[in-house]
Amino acid sequence: MKKLKTQVAIIGAGPSGLLLGQLLARKGISNIILEKETGSYVLGRIRAGIFEQGFVDLVHEAGAADRMSKEGEVHNGFEIAVDGRTTRIDLKKLTGGNAVVCYGQVEITKDLMDARTNAELITYYEASAVELGDVKLDKPTVTFAHGGEEYQLQCDYIAGCDGFHGVSRQTIPADLRTEHERIYPFGWMGLLSDTPPVSEELIYSKHHRGFALASRRSATRSRYYIQVPLTDQVADWSDNAFWEELKKRLPAEAAANLITGPSIEKSVAPLRSFICEPMQYGNLFLVGDAAHIVPPTGAKGLNLAASDVSTLYKVLTRVYDSGDKHCIEQYSAIALRRVWHGERFSWWMTNMLHNFDDMTAHGLEGLTFGRFMASELAYYLASEAGQKVIAEQYVGLPYEDLAP
Ligand code: FAD
Ligand code: DHB
Repeated sequence: MKKLKTQVAIIGAGPSGLLLGQLLARKGISNIILEKETGSYVLGRIRAGIFEQGFVDLVHEAGAADRMSKEGEVHNGFEIAVDGRTTRIDLKKLTGGNAVVCYGQVEITKDLMDARTNAELITYYEASAVELGDVKLDKPTVTFAHGGEEYQLQCDYIAGCDGFHGVSRQTIPADLRTEHERIYPFGWMGLLSDTPPVSEELIYSKHHRGFALASRRSATRSRYYIQVPLTDQVADWSDNAFWEELKKRLPAEAAANLITGPSIEKSVAPLRSFICEPMQYGNLFLVGDAAHIVPPTGAKGLNLAASDVSTLYKVLTRVYDSGDKHCIEQYSAIALRRVWHGERFSWWMTNMLHNFDDMTAHGLEGLTFGRFMASELAYYLASEAGQKVIAEQYVGLPYEDLAP
């Protein structure tokens, strides 16, 4: 068995793992990343598009923001449409100057991968049979197989950045973790195309046929989503059927602007709320989707991963700078406070914007629940106070510092 050593072993080369690795390396803290898939597979997953300022600031600190600064779009607002009637949420005005950045998760992942390669940091792609050992002891280990060889990586700390289906969370004994979960009775079908977007700002559209979202990646690339039954698969939706349905659910002005074309990618994502507590066990820290999942409505998933990364980065920097290990115990509580806010916001946005008719079978009281949510949305949209509540959470709540 080949032996390796590093200070922090990072499991998973998604955006959480890559961002953490880059930040730590710039503070002189060594790290090795183990990723189950190939780099090109990771880059094939089209997901997030909206980044909070906190995330953007971290990417700057990681030294990987050059392309995002040039190509990312600052969005000062977005629209919520209810059966064709739109209300603009003026993020900048309602939050006293804040905005979000529209830039693809694929692009940021690529930028972080390039930064890692340029810094000559080690990543094992296609690492299989990854197993975490001795996480309660001073020198935990991670064993894995790569290129026909067996490896043992010895480290001080392990960052579990391996997403919802990873191994890290399972390493915490089942009786020591509490998992909260809600599965929604519908999914999102996403379509990416090289066509000019219908609008300069995002449109979240509540419609009696089901929710739709018009998003974008640039002036020439669009990203659209529609609410679909959980049983629907990509093969059930031709490009043409998707465009027809999207057009019916968008407000008239946007629908009139819709330019269609061949899809570059189509996928279905189930909607889930999930939180694992605690997020730390011995010298193992869970980060991002490994610890929590939100439904995508409100664009919080990657942004919560970024606040976890920020907290863990502060913890590990203090540990290595001062030798003070007590701050380790702060990680979970600080991360979870922000996670619960993001989870609540995503759950609320999902409830208000989706169509819950015919959901009685799921114990959601179908029509009655839908009417309560429609009334709640109308109430929030009608007042500046209500819009402010939405805007403040959409741009992202502040990051919490470690206690001294
Ligand atoms: P992941 O991206 O899941 O990365 C985990 C990595 O670990 C993967 O590369 C995986 O291959 C690897 N791995 C897994 N198991 C192992 C193992 N055993 N060993 C080694 N490696 C392993 N978020 C936003 O903030 N804004 C948005 O606009 C937004 N839109 C979204 C739209 C959709 C349709 C979806 C599905 C998600 C969206 N999200 C959004 C959520 C966002 O994509 C995720 O929160 C984000 O990918 C989490 O990053 P991560 O690095 O924690 O996990
Ligand atoms: C995107 C995804 C979201 O979940 C969201 O709320 C906004 C934008 C996107 O992929 O562009």
